[in-house]
Amino acid sequence: MKHLLKLGDLSSQEIMDILNLADQLKYERRHGMEKKPLAGKTLGMIFQKSSTRTRVSFEAGMYQLGGQALFLSNRDLQIGRGEPVQDTARVLSRYLDGIMIRTFAQQEVEDLARYGSIPIINGLTDYAHPCQVLADLMTIREYKKVLKGLKLCFVGDGNNMANSLIVGCIKMGMQVAVACPAAHRPDRQLIEWGEAAGALLITESVEEGMRDADVVYTDVWASMGQESEAAQRRKDFEGYQVNESNMRLTHPNCMVQHCLPAHRGEEITEGVFEAHANELFDEAENRLHAQKAVLVKLMA
Ligand code: CP
Ligand code: NVA
Repeated sequence: MKHLLKLGDLSSQEIMDILNLADQLKYERRHGMEKKPLAGKTLGMIFQKSSTRTRVSFEAGMYQLGGQALFLSNRDLQIGRGEPVQDTARVLSRYLDGIMIRTFAQQEVEDLARYGSIPIINGLTDYAHPCQVLADLMTIREYKKVLKGLKLCFVGDGNNMANSLIVGCIKMGMQVAVACPAAHRPDRQLIEWGEAAGALLITESVEEGMRDADVVYTDVWASMGQESEAAQRRKDFEGYQVNESNMRLTHPNCMVQHCLPAHRGEEITEGVFEAHANELFDEAENRLHAQKAVLVKLMA
């Protein structure tokens, strides 16, 4: 594993190895047994979109591993004034030991990896959010003890989260249902891949998707960059809300996961959110541990 650009690039074994290392790092941190495998290493973090969890967990994680992180906003970098990503990649490769980038186009992340000579980590694009799904899988396994055979239902927009969940969950032996409006389906190639594996159901029916689910996952209706479509999207996604009534269709002890930030009253009700707050904030915490595992795998 040289980069983390999208989960499709990783084998099931590589994902499992990251989850196992993440569990170990979480244990070591809880018990004051942390080591410093990234002493002297620097991670550059390029942000073209906002972030709370990704920024803070990567920055704190690098520090905890003995290294340091640089927050690089596109408002300050020459990238924001049009310097090509090919040049940025080659320059930053001379100073840094790894780059995490959050941006719009997946191609930009792939280009950084192609032109640079250091590990590149996708911290969210319009297409994928692999770091989030590693933390999600870690959290689901903490609560359910296994991943294989579980059913996860994603309700809402077939966005970056849906795309990465399809890949990550299916690679770990789970069944995935995506309940979404026909106009907001996940990536077409990923749908074909998941259906060919016999592990994916795409449906417009929230009831069909959520029935007997072990995990229900949702995300905002308007992602970063889609702010101007928010009003239209509120109409498009009416009915695609995780609420007390449709949660009754799920398996007993069904978990609820959300990458956060959440919009209560839109994709999820306040009641369901608060009833599952422990799972949701364990999920947010696990961003730290899962990403530290990725950093160690790529940079140590
Ligand atoms: N879930 C997630 O990536 O959160 P941030 O946008 O706060 O980084
Ligand atoms: N789909 C959301 C995820 C945020 C973590 C977005 O892209 O804004």
